[in-house]
Amino acid sequence: MDLERLIDEARAVSEKAHAPYSGFQVGAALLAEDGSVHVGCNVENASYGLTVCAERSAVTSAIAQGVKSFRAVAIVTNGERPVGPCGACRQVLAEFASDLIVVSEAGGLRKQWTLGELLPSPFEGLPEWPGGQHD
Ligand code: THU
Repeated sequence: MDLERLIDEARAVSEKAHAPYSGFQVGAALLAEDGSVHVGCNVENASYGLTVCAERSAVTSAIAQGVKSFRAVAIVTNGERPVGPCGACRQVLAEFASDLIVVSEAGGLRKQWTLGELLPSPFEGLPEWPGGQHD
């Protein structure tokens, strides 16, 4: 699975987005370490704050399949230029990989980062928690 195909998967799922309020359709495709791909789209609600982003939707789907190690995420929107994931999604993605490749495409343009560049200091929990940050 290369990034081109991952982007194609994100584009395909973006067409299924439920975005009647913003009109901004987002698709995300997560490439797992085992080669599997897990997709999600944004799901808006009449109570706007209940909206779920595409990236978190993809993470939820992967976790439900028992998959939690990822190499890359592709994001495709119907906007004019590529966007990075929102802050909340960066934090959720950081739970699973700081060296994740994040590639975003829109309007015929593409941008690429690592998650560590986009969120250099995620919240990592307290020392006594599993995986929690230690000094
Ligand atoms: N959205 C995402 O799906 N991912 C992001 O990272 C940013 C925003 C969605 C949420 C909402 O449905 C629409 O884009 C406009 O904010």
